[in-house]
Amino acid sequence: MNHWTLVGHVADCPPGQSIECVAGDRIIALFNLDGTFHALDGICPHQGGPLAKGTLTNCIVTCPWHGWQFDVTTGQHQINTALKHDSLAVKVEGDEIFVALG
Ligand code: FES
Repeated sequence: MNHWTLVGHVADCPPGQSIECVAGDRIIALFNLDGTFHALDGICPHQGGPLAKGTLTNCIVTCPWHGWQFDVTTGQHQINTALKHDSLAVKVEGDEIFVALG
């Protein structure tokens, strides 16, 4: 069962940007794609880089440490089709952003 957790406000993360936030005991990377929010586990599965501090180009984030790339809408790694990073459902209520923790 999902537990919706407040992670920030719409104004915190303008379109084309990302922010790092804490939800429970997890670090989350929150992305704003043209007003639609998406969330990935914020810790890169390669060596723990901060995905929220990566470069966002369209729906692809590039990890700032070694360049692994993920689709922020699905978590899919862009080279290794077997690697899908953990993505989380997002909802916006008013100006508040929530992610679903399983
Ligand atoms: S830690 Fe992200 S690519 Fe290495």
